[in-house]
Amino acid sequence: MKKTFSFLVLLCMAATSAHAGLKVVGKGDNMHYDPSSFPPAMKASYDIMKVKCIKCHTLERTVVAIQTGIAPISGQPFDRNATKAYGVKMLRKPDSNMNKKEVKATVELMNWLLDQANQ
Ligand code: HEC
Repeated sequence: MKKTFSFLVLLCMAATSAHAGLKVVGKGDNMHYDPSSFPPAMKASYDIMKVKCIKCHTLERTVVAIQTGIAPISGQPFDRNATKAYGVKMLRKPDSNMNKKEVKATVELMNWLLDQANQ
C-alpha cells in the first residue's frame, strides 16, 4: 500500500514537471502562453511572436494548434513537419509586416512548444 502511494506521488510529480514549461493562460482572444519558465532563446522568440503573430488574429489560433496538434481553421495536422509551411504562409499574406528572420524565430519556437506539449 505504502509503495503504491509513493509510486503515485512520483508519477504525479513527473506529470507536472513535464508540463512545467508550457503554461497556457487566459481564454478565447486572451489565450496565450506564460513564458516565465521558457529558456532565454525561446523567451526572445516569444517576444517576436506576441507582437508579430497577433496582427490579423489572436494568439488563440497558434496556442490551439500547438496544444491540439490540429490547425484550427483548416483542420490539417499541426506538427513539426507543418510549422515552417504555416510560418511561410503567414509571411506571404498581404501586409504581414514580418521578415524571414522573425518567421524563422517563431517557427523554432513553435517546434519547441510542440515538443513540450507532447511530453
Ligand atoms: C497578415 C495577417 C496574418 C499574420 C501577420 C499572421 N497570420 Fe496566421 N492566419 C492569417 C489568416 C488570414 C489565417 C486563416 C487561414 C489561412 O489563411 O491559413 C491564419 C491562420 C493561422 C493559423 C491556423 C491555420 C490553419 O490552417 O488552421 C495559425 C496556426 C496561424 N495563423 C498562426 C500564425 C502565426 C504563428 C503567425 C506569426 C508568425 C501568424 N499566424 C501571423 C493571417 C495572419
